[in-house]
Amino acid sequence: MNKPIQSFSKLSANEKIKLITQQYFEDPQKAQALLSSYLLSNKSLQEIHSQFSENNLSNFVLPFSIAPNFLINQKTYCLPMVTEESSVVAAASHAAKFWFNRGGFTANVQNMIKKGQIHFTYNGNPNTIKKLFRQHKSALIHSTHEITHNMRMRGGGIQSVELIDNTKTLPNYFQLDIAFITGDAMGANFINTCLETMASTWESIYFQNSSLFPKDQKFEIIMSILSNYNPECTVSVHASCPIENLGLNLKDSERYAQKFVLACQIAVINKFRAVTHNKGILNGIDAVVIATGNDFRAIEASIHSYASKDGSYKSLSNASINRGIFHFEMTVPISIGTVGGVTTLHPMVRWGNELLGWPSAEELMKIIAASGLAQNFAAINSLITTGIQKGHMKMHLNNILNQLGATTHQKQKATNYFQNKKISVKDVETYLTTIDA
Ligand code: MEV
Repeated sequence: MNKPIQSFSKLSANEKIKLITQQYFEDPQKAQALLSSYLLSNKSLQEIHSQFSENNLSNFVLPFSIAPNFLINQKTYCLPMVTEESSVVAAASHAAKFWFNRGGFTANVQNMIKKGQIHFTYNGNPNTIKKLFRQHKSALIHSTHEITHNMRMRGGGIQSVELIDNTKTLPNYFQLDIAFITGDAMGANFINTCLETMASTWESIYFQNSSLFPKDQKFEIIMSILSNYNPECTVSVHASCPIENLGLNLKDSERYAQKFVLACQIAVINKFRAVTHNKGILNGIDAVVIATGNDFRAIEASIHSYASKDGSYKSLSNASINRGIFHFEMTVPISIGTVGGVTTLHPMVRWGNELLGWPSAEELMKIIAASGLAQNFAAINSLITTGIQKGHMKMHLNNILNQLGATTHQKQKATNYFQNKKISVKDVETYLTTIDA
């Protein structure tokens, strides 16, 4: 077994690079050169990026793109999108343009409540701990007053604290369930700081009142952490138009709308399809979430768990036809922020937020949801008409050509040649051998 690397984080960036490349690469010089070629020439910008993460060696670049023509609540936006998946931005742009001419997207935020929990065990009579909680609930909230001061001034802060008895499902397990409003901040740090403060107050309250409890009774704080499940931080988004405006002749439009509705129903009842259907929605959501400096892992966790809130995993979006009108809608939880952390520090995030007109968190929730619905619309549209590969592979062809080192001339010829053909890496490779570089 290899020896573990000691105190890696204490080494300078150059020492880290040397150690790693010499130990793991056939050609350390070449590996080092690649890392340096991805460093920013602007030293102060590079410094900002290097400080985002521990043990940073270089930058990992993803495309930053724009999807224009998003009409959301009658306001036009160009969306910043960060994604490596070739067809995502093109699909979002097409869907946005399609709906731009049909009234755009309408989005509403239902609520912006985020939850945090203090998990603890207590092996005595549940009624005794419940009584202690009722008597000291305001002291628990009060103990966070300094931390919540600014947030309260902005209309946020702690909304409720409840004690939940889980002892029937896990012996001795209780939790304090705390609801927060965090304004324009995502609020993870704020929530966790409040929770840890409240947990230590709750512990002190218990031990200060220990005379009320028999000696053999045990109380222990297990952990305090926000929850990424946000069923009360949701946004709904909707697009609709008369069937005849779907862009085909009436008969074809009706058939198209029915097929679209069926595609969504399949994703409601079939888990295998639902996961892919929702992944398509997240293609749009994640790209804007990343571009705006938000935590896409939290969003993914939250949205996938919300998709199974009724007991089985389902499509998040739904389509219907009502009196000749085609409706397409979804509701998703989106806990994001537009101030604090990376949103304030990352220059490209600030660029994207300026492009969006410095939205509030509530406005950004609507924008992100519209991006998800547009992406889902584009995917279903392709799936029920031409098939997904046509659009996908057109973009993918470029990646294959780059991967195979094609020249500009070869790229042009290959693009024409494969216009209406199915594409595989092997086919492209074979084709390249038949033309001059
Ligand atoms: C690919 O990234 C996403 C799709 O598979 C979504 C879907 O099938 O709905 C095209």
